[in-house]
Amino acid sequence: MSMSAAAADIDVKRLREALGSRSIVLVGLMGAGKSSIGRRLAHRLGLPFVDADTEIEKAADLTIPEIFEKHGEPYFRAGEVRVVARILDSGPQVLATGGGAYMNPETRARIRERGISLWLKAELDVLMKRVKRRGDRPLLKADDPQAVLKRLMDERYPVYAEADLTVVSREASHDEVVEDVIAALASHVRPSPDRGSHDPS
Ligand code: S3P
Repeated sequence: MSMSAAAADIDVKRLREALGSRSIVLVGLMGAGKSSIGRRLAHRLGLPFVDADTEIEKAADLTIPEIFEKHGEPYFRAGEVRVVARILDSGPQVLATGGGAYMNPETRARIRERGISLWLKAELDVLMKRVKRRGDRPLLKADDPQAVLKRLMDERYPVYAEADLTVVSREASHDEVVEDVIAALASHVRPSPDRGSHDPS
């Protein structure tokens, strides 16, 4: 085993302990890899993986495009708030949220309370390449999906930046990004050596 893999295994154990009942919540734009990274991360950590969009589809007994089409976006957003709240009650787990979930202040507050948030940040060209593979995102059914993504980046990146951690979702293998995520989480949860001693202020 390489040194870094050994270090990562120690990180995994500490991380599981430090997490308690909190969830690791992945946020970021469509195509950032929240579900594929999240699934692998959960496997690495021995935690359940939950995909918020899948849970919304189950609750509505409709696909996301069908929900948008039949009931409109506000109805979807209201369901999203409820479903994410319900999922957050049953940590520890890895939760992949849909790209718009973290934009809701109520959801952000709940995530802050019950989880550690991690923004998977990606460049526009990486996102574009990935979203082209699937045609099931209602917001991107537009003449110029790249312009939509660019606008969403401008609107959302300042809010995603409120997440506890940020990891760049680069064009490396998923496994490499997962190791970056584990390292970021491990350094976040590890108490600094002098924490808990006296407060100099
Ligand atoms: C959305 C992202 C989608 C899905 C819905 C709306 C958004 O999830 O929730 O189509 O507002 O960014 P993914 O980010 O998993 O694609």
